[in-house]
Amino acid sequence: MIEIKNISVTYPDGTSAISDISLAIGDGESAALIGANGAGKTTLLLSIVGVLPAERGLISVDGIELGKKSLSEVRRRVGMVFQDPDDQLFMPLIYDDVAFGPRNLGLSEEAVEKRVDAALSSLGIAHLRDRSSLRLSGGEKRIAAIATVLAMEPTMMIFDEPTAFLDPKARRNLINLLRRLPHGKLIATHDLSFAEEVCPRAILLKNGRIFADGRTGELIRDDRLMDECGVEALR
Ligand SMILES: Nc1ncnc2c1ncn2[C@@H]1O[C@H](COP(=O)(O)OP(=O)(O)O)[C@@H](O)[C@H]1O
Ligand SMILES: [Mg+2]
Repeated sequence: MIEIKNISVTYPDGTSAISDISLAIGDGESAALIGANGAGKTTLLLSIVGVLPAERGLISVDGIELGKKSLSEVRRRVGMVFQDPDDQLFMPLIYDDVAFGPRNLGLSEEAVEKRVDAALSSLGIAHLRDRSSLRLSGGEKRIAAIATVLAMEPTMMIFDEPTAFLDPKARRNLINLLRRLPHGKLIATHDLSFAEEVCPRAILLKNGRIFADGRTGELIRDDRLMDECGVEALR
């Protein structure tokens, strides 16, 4: 579970990106994080994995409070799939990309291989094991990036605009796959029909603050609410 209490993040240039956000995502729960460009979605996700330090407030994952000493333990429990898969895939072979995190845990190569194979096959991409990410489609890259996170055996997963750059078929495949993953999930997106299919709950962000939190199907069809957040409601 992820618990966030009263966190604020300000960038070094003085931009206040998120202000006084509190929320909790339960084990196995899937929540969409919806908001216009610049609402603070990416900033919030990066602060949960300790990439951006929150200036105030508390973040904890499975009861472990995020801090300098607990950073690696928190990151083992909550994995982030970045908006651009090229930020996550940088080794010569997909095998090595997915093995990267488990190797850093100090596991034996035999144990690493087990994790890699389990992650790849559970996502249906065992055939990409010995390929290079440079030669994969956008959809394949997205799934491979998810595999790098799954191989860490996290309890929670967070995703930044996972449907970005995907064609309709790859998007559909991703929806089916995310619906099968049992992990707790927080998914930043402005793809509202995707949000509805994957996440029963939606959290609306506006100017770095939580504007609404409720059932996805209701929020995304509320013209007034969505309009106030600068997002076009679903019809
Ligand atoms: N590196 C940065 N330096 C300064 N301001 C930033 C930086 N990254 C994002 N911001 C600002 O922080 C706010 C939130 O941005 P972001 O979290 O990227 O929003 P979203 O992901 O919802 O589009 C915006 O005002 C954005 O301009
Ligand atoms: Mg963003």
